Amino acid sequence: MTKKILVAVAWPYANGDLHIGHLAGAYLPADIYARYHRLVGNDVLMVSGSDSHGTPITVRADQEGVSPREIFERFHHRFLEAQRDIGISYDLFTHTDTPNHHKVAQDIFTRLLENGYLYVEKQQQYYSELSQQFLPDRYIEGTCPHCGYTDARGDQCDNCGRLLDALELKNPRSKRDGSTPVLRETEHFFLDLAKLEPAVRAYLEREKEEWRPNVIKFSQNYVKGGLKGRPITRDIEWGIPLPLDKYPGKRLYVWFEAVIGYLSASIEWSKLVGDPDAWKSWWYDPAALDVYFIGKDNIPFHTIIWPAELIGIEQLYADDPAQRLNLPYDVPANEFMNLAGAKFSKSHGRMISVPDLLARYDADAIRYYITVVLPETSDSDFYWDDFILRNNGELVGVWGNLAHRVLSFTYKHFGAVPEPGALADADLALLAQAEAAFVTVGERLAARQFRAGLTEAMALAREANRYLEIKSPWSQIKQDRAAAGTSLYVALQAINALSVLLSPYLPFSSEQLRRDLGHTTPLFGAQGIEEVTAEGQVYSVLRYDPTLATVRWAYEELPIGRSLAKPAPLFKKLDEALIEEELARMEK
Ligand code: MF3
Ligand code: ZN
Repeated sequence: MTKKILVAVAWPYANGDLHIGHLAGAYLPADIYARYHRLVGNDVLMVSGSDSHGTPITVRADQEGVSPREIFERFHHRFLEAQRDIGISYDLFTHTDTPNHHKVAQDIFTRLLENGYLYVEKQQQYYSELSQQFLPDRYIEGTCPHCGYTDARGDQCDNCGRLLDALELKNPRSKRDGSTPVLRETEHFFLDLAKLEPAVRAYLEREKEEWRPNVIKFSQNYVKGGLKGRPITRDIEWGIPLPLDKYPGKRLYVWFEAVIGYLSASIEWSKLVGDPDAWKSWWYDPAALDVYFIGKDNIPFHTIIWPAELIGIEQLYADDPAQRLNLPYDVPANEFMNLAGAKFSKSHGRMISVPDLLARYDADAIRYYITVVLPETSDSDFYWDDFILRNNGELVGVWGNLAHRVLSFTYKHFGAVPEPGALADADLALLAQAEAAFVTVGERLAARQFRAGLTEAMALAREANRYLEIKSPWSQIKQDRAAAGTSLYVALQAINALSVLLSPYLPFSSEQLRRDLGHTTPLFGAQGIEEVTAEGQVYSVLRYDPTLATVRWAYEELPIGRSLAKPAPLFKKLDEALIEEELARMEK
């Protein structure tokens, strides 16, 4: 039966280029998962967008002396290009400054207020007398009360991961002007997490068999001490206004509204495809799987705050008052990917940006290596030497050469898929392994164990290489053309299977290989940047168009006699001298 799969992907702050930490943390696993489910024939809706608000944007705008809008538009555009080029196949990648998102965020605020889940409270807030303004939490730095880290931010400690209130920090200082802030009174709306706590707890206690242990543990610890209300408004200019005339100077807090993007983008996508209610089946059908791909620093927002908002708004926009919005089915948060030890962060300088990498390497070579070292269960490292050596030894050595040798040799001697003779045990064994791989690789992918899925698929490539070593059609052809034809027929079937099995990981080279194998329909749909006009606003989005895609997650025989195209190599071998070059580049 066709399942509805919502692939919800973290919204990157539009204040700097995407780097490989983003790819490894969320975007690449999300894309692999989405592509797999599309091949299986499930209905995938994959959404995300640029997080255009918040202090990360205004900090950069201040540094450059330009408007926050200029910053977010610049990086939004760069996100679209980088993700198109690395093949992250969003059904919609939009941003949080669209009229649609503003409206949905404001509707949710209103609904929570009506349902009694918001309250107003006077609050002491840090204020800079030097700059004469209230300081958002992120503009305050100080010592973490939990772990003693001295560079904790007012909203969250990067060392222990806890969400903070700026007032809890010891030795606070203003990041904006270096001054020691003073406390002033202001009024804010709070999300009543204490009231929502029993429902959030019940959600977290429901069976979470498939959840990663770190995600369960972090979330349960988080509610252990009891939940307190959190302010969801700020005294700032850059952000979404409240839907209330009484508070012209206040804006919605970025974390309150960014998570709403998953829902608003689903609604926006529905409007774009001309079926405004389409999103409801991913959000209201209890059988839908809503999976959120995020980095570990985002866990509490997705397992506590966003579920609390969803519970509090009840059946917003539903046709039937008994319906409830789906809470996250799984949140397979990844750990961090480090650059040989140092933590990636846009604010810490040392990182490898996706556009930069794409300028020198092919998308699938990057995707392959990042998948191999995905930080699924613990932090991992990106090593330049490992990248180059695995590209040469595994991607080219094990898989690329297999496909290229077999195809070019068959093309040269037969021009088409040869007719096999009687199949012997070794032949049947490889064919059986190719067929079984759809189950084993599929299970790993469905369970969001992406590294393991790739290992399984590569094991089939290694088997096929062993088979060829034994059969050696290059020598067989000299004495027994029919026997060579049989070996090539069998090897081609394995390669054909691998062109599907590896395609969620390596979509570009897989499509190329399939054309060389004579397939005339692509596996995946087309993806492109589009300009859209909504309520008078013109902006660009990234969209995947599934029209041409085909359901293919099954063993399929490459027909005897099918003519083959003259193949081009799938991957490039990389010069080992690049290792030194890249390391030198990082030092600069
Ligand atoms: N912009 C945030 C970050 O980069 C992530 C937001 S995920 C969302 O850490 F769900 F809140 F949008
Ligand atoms: Zn800490």
